[in-house]
Amino acid sequence: MEAFFDQTVPWYLVDVPPTNSVMQKLLVEYAGIEEAKVDGHIANIRNKAWRVAPFPCVGSFLFAELVLSTFPVYPEIVSNLKSGTWSRYLEVGCGLGQDIRKLIQDGAPKTSVMGTDLLSGLLESGQELFQDTNALPLDQALFAADFLDTSDSNVLRKAGLDGTVDIIHATMFLHCFDRPTQLRACQRILALLKTQPGVMIVGKQGGVSSTAEGREHPVKGPMGQVGGVVRTNFLHNVDSFRALWDEVGAATGTRWDVQVREEEVMDRGYLYFDEEEHRWLSFVITKL
Ligand SMILES: C[S@@+](CC[C@H](N)C(=O)[O-])C[C@H]1O[C@@H](n2cnc3c(N)ncnc32)[C@H](O)[C@@H]1O
Repeated sequence: MEAFFDQTVPWYLVDVPPTNSVMQKLLVEYAGIEEAKVDGHIANIRNKAWRVAPFPCVGSFLFAELVLSTFPVYPEIVSNLKSGTWSRYLEVGCGLGQDIRKLIQDGAPKTSVMGTDLLSGLLESGQELFQDTNALPLDQALFAADFLDTSDSNVLRKAGLDGTVDIIHATMFLHCFDRPTQLRACQRILALLKTQPGVMIVGKQGGVSSTAEGREHPVKGPMGQVGGVVRTNFLHNVDSFRALWDEVGAATGTRWDVQVREEEVMDRGYLYFDEEEHRWLSFVITKL
């Protein structure tokens, strides 16, 4: 079992990297952490979260990086939530949920933002990181659920979320799965969204350069062989990502404007995605 929590994998950093000033502000102003204690607080949470989920996003402290607020569409998202034009934001595979807290700090009503993750321990680590267990309770704002579950006991469906969401944020999520499973996850995303034009899916994930083929990659490290089954991540290039959404559209009789951008940024994500052809794919997908 200890091999599962192996700290010698390249994506486990012993020390906290310098905290970005926006995240620092969020932890001080939203969470109320003393400025001098921010690094220690992050380290403490990471060490606990690693025992829940020895994932690259935990080991490399990527949960202390904000993604959504770097998107050009972010001011529009905040404005739609603040004005009530949109009533529901859901982040899928949210992990510790850092972008959810940034939205609240920027003025989105607490009642409009929600997150879901397979592991309740990660949601609880997020509550501890941001000191907001009462403001964002489990089963009301944060839902522990298998996103791929389509049974009647599906937690999100039972909470009445199907067909009610205006915007879904999926960062570092779809790439966790093989391609057939990504298709299922996208269909589940559609089931949660309202049916009207203008609803949106945004996010960022690991992918490959457009000079390479989108393809299945074995999941690295102990996480790759849970129960003896070798799992794969399908890493898209820009074209194969668009093709995935064409297939989702064809399967559901819907049409989507898919804006997807390839970026080459040497950040801590490279501790896991260390191939030369690795790229980040950022996307904004809008229902037509
Ligand atoms: C790479 S982490 C990204 C976390 C977060 N989005 C971030 O960027 O910091 C992927 C997350 O997806 C969650 N996840 C994986 N499979 C899932 C599933 N079937 N249902 C819900 N969440 C899942 C994991 O627990 C993990 O928190």
